[in-house]
Amino acid sequence: MGKINVLIIGSGGREHSLAWAIAKSPMLEQLYCSPGNAGMAQMSICVALDVDDHQAIIDFVVDKNIEFVVIGPEAPLVDGLADSLKSAGIKAFGPSAAAAQLEGSKAFTKDLCAAHNIPTAAYGRFKDAATAKAYLQAQKMPIVIKADGLAAGKGVIIAEDLRQAEVAIDDIFNGQFGAAGLELIIEEFMEGEEASFFVLVDGEHCLAMASAQDHKQVGDGDVGPNTGGMGAYSPAAVMSEDMCARTMREIIEPTVLALKSAGTPFCGVLYAGLMITSQGPKLIEYNVRFGDPECQVLMMRLASDILPALMATADGSLADITLDWHDQAALSVVMATQGYPGSYDKGSIINGLDQAGRQENVTVFHAGTAQNNAEIIATGGRVLNVTALGATVSEAQSRAYNGVNAIDWREGFCRSDIGWRAIEREKANSK
Ligand code: AMP
Ligand code: GLY
Repeated sequence: MGKINVLIIGSGGREHSLAWAIAKSPMLEQLYCSPGNAGMAQMSICVALDVDDHQAIIDFVVDKNIEFVVIGPEAPLVDGLADSLKSAGIKAFGPSAAAAQLEGSKAFTKDLCAAHNIPTAAYGRFKDAATAKAYLQAQKMPIVIKADGLAAGKGVIIAEDLRQAEVAIDDIFNGQFGAAGLELIIEEFMEGEEASFFVLVDGEHCLAMASAQDHKQVGDGDVGPNTGGMGAYSPAAVMSEDMCARTMREIIEPTVLALKSAGTPFCGVLYAGLMITSQGPKLIEYNVRFGDPECQVLMMRLASDILPALMATADGSLADITLDWHDQAALSVVMATQGYPGSYDKGSIINGLDQAGRQENVTVFHAGTAQNNAEIIATGGRVLNVTALGATVSEAQSRAYNGVNAIDWREGFCRSDIGWRAIEREKANSK
């Protein structure tokens, strides 16, 4: 097979790590990224295309002879970009809008779980406050209230008591999350340890990738407001071989079969957010794309060429693919602009990136960065992902923080305890 041109849609650390992995492929001729960032610009040609203008993307793909498009974020998937590309005869990685409902509508996923006996929290769906509050009266606390639609990871409230739950219901129906909150879900609170599990799916066949854990909260010790993710590591210790096998059998495979039977097969990466409970794995939610920053740790651990695997996912030929993984652990520390996840300034200058990236087993993935003449400046909330491999999570952590220390960026901050749960476990096991 000849070499091919590839386009990646997105500009986060997730997309930089995908670009980094794809850039290593012997199959690659030229990589394009849209819009990309300063890190992606080092390995690709970055172009500013309007992601909402599907025809403009199709025209660019045709003009540049691009054979494969990788769609990173959820919004263009839910918006049907993969469908538009497919209709134009262009191969794309990422599910159709119909299958992306797994992430786009929590109610859709809960109903699918109920219909196919997939373990998840008990729930109710509501379109008005009075009925939702009436349902609450018979429920145990704490309880979980979720806006139905896409709310950038912020549409979930864990209410400790009835009053908090009622306030959350009123807030959602009063438009706190806009159209995402036209409907809400009330869910049983599940106890356990969380893990993320990533599986490539070509509509029919599944190829389990790896597990990870992320740190959603902004502060050390997992406190403070939720963010898109302040750091991650892989693998997740709770995801033993047996737990991975159960997750495939009890959760992933029935989901894939259900969507295929419904005539809306899922093609792409299925990201299961799991609660590992005393009864086994239960689904918290699905995402229909790689996690950010989980993708960064997965790409560091992947030993195989990612490009044929992503193409086979789009082609329906995943049964022919295997992936090799490094035994090492990977850990990523997110550096964000001070103020994030609230408001923050843009334009501060970042130095020391080369020194950080030259360290043993350290790779710095960019998120919100841009090149401004000779300087790299911060343009977003989450800005850098300092990512490292190590024999243990502890070693990966110390390498990642050595990388962080080499970066000179006064306006930035990071958590100092990424991976703490796994590291406590490693310490306990070595005693
Ligand atoms: P989600 O956006 O659905 O992943 O929810 C965000 C976070 O809320 C999850 O990562 C969990 O920490 C928590 N969460 C969501 N649903 C539940 C549940 N039913 N029980 C316990 N925690 C939950
Ligand atoms: N890190 C969480 C997410 O990508 O949704």
